[in-house]
Amino acid sequence: MPREMVLILDFGGQNTQLLARRIRELHVYCEVLPHNTRADEVKALQPKALVLAGDAGSVYDKAALGVDPAIYELGIPLLGICYGMQLMAKDLGGTVRGAGRGELEETVLTVRKMDGLFAGLEEKINVRLSCKDLVAKVPPGFAVSASAPEAPVAAMEDTQRQFYAVQFHPEVENSSFGRAVLQNYLFRVAGLAGDWTVASFIEDAVRQIRETVGDDAHAVCGLSGGVDSSVAAVLVHRAIGDRLHCIFVDHGLLRKGEAKQVLSFFCDRLRMQVTAVDATEHFLGKLAGVRDPEAKRKIIGAEFIRVFEQEAAKIGNADYLVQGTVYPDVIESGTAAAAVVKTHHNVGGLPEDLKFRLIEPLRYLFKDEVRRVGEALGLPEEIVWRHPFPGPGLAVRVLGEVTREKLEIVREADAILLEEIKAYGLYRELWQAFAILPDIRSVGVTEEGRTYAYAIALRAVTSQDAMTADWYRFPYDLLARISDRIVREVPRVNRVVYDITAKPPATIEWE
Ligand code: XMP
Repeated sequence: MPREMVLILDFGGQNTQLLARRIRELHVYCEVLPHNTRADEVKALQPKALVLAGDAGSVYDKAALGVDPAIYELGIPLLGICYGMQLMAKDLGGTVRGAGRGELEETVLTVRKMDGLFAGLEEKINVRLSCKDLVAKVPPGFAVSASAPEAPVAAMEDTQRQFYAVQFHPEVENSSFGRAVLQNYLFRVAGLAGDWTVASFIEDAVRQIRETVGDDAHAVCGLSGGVDSSVAAVLVHRAIGDRLHCIFVDHGLLRKGEAKQVLSFFCDRLRMQVTAVDATEHFLGKLAGVRDPEAKRKIIGAEFIRVFEQEAAKIGNADYLVQGTVYPDVIESGTAAAAVVKTHHNVGGLPEDLKFRLIEPLRYLFKDEVRRVGEALGLPEEIVWRHPFPGPGLAVRVLGEVTREKLEIVREADAILLEEIKAYGLYRELWQAFAILPDIRSVGVTEEGRTYAYAIALRAVTSQDAMTADWYRFPYDLLARISDRIVREVPRVNRVVYDITAKPPATIEWE
């Protein structure tokens, strides 16, 4: 556990993860728990400050979400944001009214108290107020610290109890204003030091893993070459050395050069214990004749588990399983306290009855933080910044039956695409870029005559979280070069098309 922690009690809505990230960007470790977490559980975590955040309708609704009232008695500084502010007003003896207005209104805030949250800021500030419900009367002990024409109580504070509340979202205010309000709360009000860094995270994580695993126990880890499992493995290796046994299952559905690259880094450079299993024949055998995408996924998932279990059994005495679970998975599962076994990522979906205890050193990190930890641990750029890749690999991108020949074609086309994108300096701008082999052949013509060969589809998207995505506007000269190289260098391909569909309505992968 880091020395200083801030806890967000979450009422749902879009902004909570962003708020947690903003707080962490200020070098303060922060976790999100459900709004109804009991006060004794909160106390046990020893947070130095609390935030009530989220959007949950009206505090007077019958089914309105609330907090354990004992939260207000813990003597911990408290910041209420929007719904959190209204809840504090209601719970502590003030009143809230509907404003009958839109969701967010641009307005000018007039600061009435220049110390506290607004220290060092201008007296008049442009903000977007969240205006559906407003505090009408502040609770006893509170004073109005900022107002706006639409909202006489746009911010309030009780300096005695260190309770603060604002009617705007400091995490989405893109000016330096929102950041300054959070800084004032964390450093001025709550007196935090802000010393949470990547280096301190690594130090704490390594110590914690050592304490958990002890001096004798062993751990296994399914390495996929993706950034999460790689960073998790390196952290655990730092903590317990050769008592970590990694298993790398090559299902024959990886990108060009991937297996070699991953193994050469972990085995040759880091001297980690990695069992590499080349199960290509086995997987291709199982996939022979299968065309349905879901059936392909099921086969690959099930076989992956079987191979992994077989290898893990050979290791014998492992008690722990290392997983690269990251914080969005934990928050989205809604049960931050429960251990979550990833069902479809990296290791292809390990069953819950595996007799392992889990080690998830990244379960409180966001993806960009995982990347920074990876960089600090000395992982190479190709691993730290690698695009996401589905567990079932190229089987998803070869439509119809998966054969060795088709895999070879899509792998070569994909390698050319990535090579050209990297050479153009665009790799990091993209969420993903890859080649697909649709089950289509068409007529073409060369100097030697007519051809009847495959078409390759290219996909390149930008995205924040893969939930939505837009197709990338490549420069035409780059598209031309990629297409030209693919038809010249990849046998049995005579046509290249570029997918110009956003998600939704399309997905990122084709399948
Ligand atoms: P779609 O195609 O649904 O994909 O828009 C969203 C994101 O998820 C990735 N993806 C997977 N990742 N195992 C994974 O680890 C899988 O089975 C899987 N299927 C899709 C996809 O690459 C994209 O980033």
